[in-house]
Amino acid sequence: MDTDNSVQTTQMIDDPAVIDLGVGQPQLSLLPLERIRQAAEIRFAQNDPTFLQYGAEQGDGYLRQGLAHLLTEQYGFPVFPKNLFITNGASLGLDLTCTLFAKPGDTIFIEEPSYFLALRIFADHHLRLVSIPVDENGLVVEALEQELKKVRPTFLYTVSAFQNPSGYTLSEERRARLAQLSRENGFLIIADEVYHLLNFSAELPRPFAAYTEEGNIISLGSFSKILAPGLRLGWIQTDPQRAKAFAACGLLDSGGGLNPFTSAIVRGLVESGGLKANIEHLCTTYQARAASMDAALRKYIPGAVYQVPRGGYFFWIRLPDGRDAEALMKRAEKFQVSFRPGVRFSSRGALRDYARLCFAYYEADQLAEGIARLGRALE
Ligand SMILES: Cc1ncc(COP(=O)(O)O)c(C=O)c1O
Repeated sequence: MDTDNSVQTTQMIDDPAVIDLGVGQPQLSLLPLERIRQAAEIRFAQNDPTFLQYGAEQGDGYLRQGLAHLLTEQYGFPVFPKNLFITNGASLGLDLTCTLFAKPGDTIFIEEPSYFLALRIFADHHLRLVSIPVDENGLVVEALEQELKKVRPTFLYTVSAFQNPSGYTLSEERRARLAQLSRENGFLIIADEVYHLLNFSAELPRPFAAYTEEGNIISLGSFSKILAPGLRLGWIQTDPQRAKAFAACGLLDSGGGLNPFTSAIVRGLVESGGLKANIEHLCTTYQARAASMDAALRKYIPGAVYQVPRGGYFFWIRLPDGRDAEALMKRAEKFQVSFRPGVRFSSRGALRDYARLCFAYYEADQLAEGIARLGRALE
C-alpha cells in the first residue's frame, strides 16, 4: 500500500525542526505495534466472527474479566467485571457522562488548572463552570466547601493522579473527604484517572475507583496512555447500577457495545500479560525521561520552580521572574521549541507565568535539547 505524506492520518502533524514540548502524546516508537499485531493474529486465527457483530452493551465480557483482574492486581483491592463499562476512551466516557447525568445550564466544579480539552467537552454540553484551586496535594477541599455553600454542582471533574497539566496528585485524605462531601451533598465525582497506572513513584493513593461502592463515583480509565490512543478504548469504573445505566443508554441500544473489534484484540494482550509488560516498560522509560528533563531544567532554566513528577506525562513549571508564557512562546518560535502556556489550562485567563512541558513524546536527548533552546529563548 502506498503512503502519500500529504494525506493526514494523525491528529498532529510533526515538524521535525521543532521540538514541541507541548505535545501530550506518546512517541510513535512507544506504540506497541508488534504486541498488537500478534494479539490481532491470534484473534483472527480463531475463526470466530463474533467480534465483528454488534457487541454486548456493557462491553466485551472477557475484556471486562481480564481488565478486572489486572486492576485488582494494580490497585490492590478487588475490582469486579460488573463495575466496568467499556468506552471508546476517557473522552467519550466523559462526554457520555455529561449526556446522561447533566443537563444544559447545570453547574459543575472543575480544577484550576484543569485538562483544557475536557473544558471543550463541557462547553459542548453547555455546562457552567466553577473552578476550584489545586495545590501540590491536588484539589483544595476547603475551597470546594466554600463554593458548596453557594451552589450545589451536578458533578466535580478531577484529574486525580499526575494531573494534566500540573502533575499533582490528590492526597488520600482529600479523596476520602471529597467522597464524603459528594455523598452528603448529592453530587457526582468524575475522576479522570488516565495517568494513575503510569506511576513511577514509591507510593500513590488508592484511585477514586476504590470508592465506587459508596456510589456517586465515576472513574475514567483509558488504554490511550498505557497502550495506544488509536485503539480508542477505555473504561468507566463505577457502581454496578450506574454501569448498567451507561449500558442502557440510547447510543448503545442502537449501536451496541463500544468498540467490540478492538476489545477482542486488546483482551488477548490483557490475558497474556502483554499489557502489564507494556505498562512496566512505559514507566521505566518515562521515569528516565522525567529525570533527564529535570536535569536539563536545573542546568538551563535554574530559575524555574516546579515539582519533579513521579508519574504521568508532565512538568508544570513556573517561569522565572513572572515571565509571561504566551509571550515566551512567540519568542521560542525563533529557537524552534514550543510548549503549552499555563493560561490554556485556566478557565479564568490566569496562570500566565506557567508552562506545561511533556516528557512522553521525545527521547531524553531531544528533551534536553528542547530545554536548552527554551533556556536561550528566556535569555
Ligand atoms: C486528563 C486526560 N483525560 C483524558 C485524555 C484523553 O483520553 P482518551 O484518549 O482516553 O480519550 C487525556 C489525553 O491527553 C488526558 O490528559
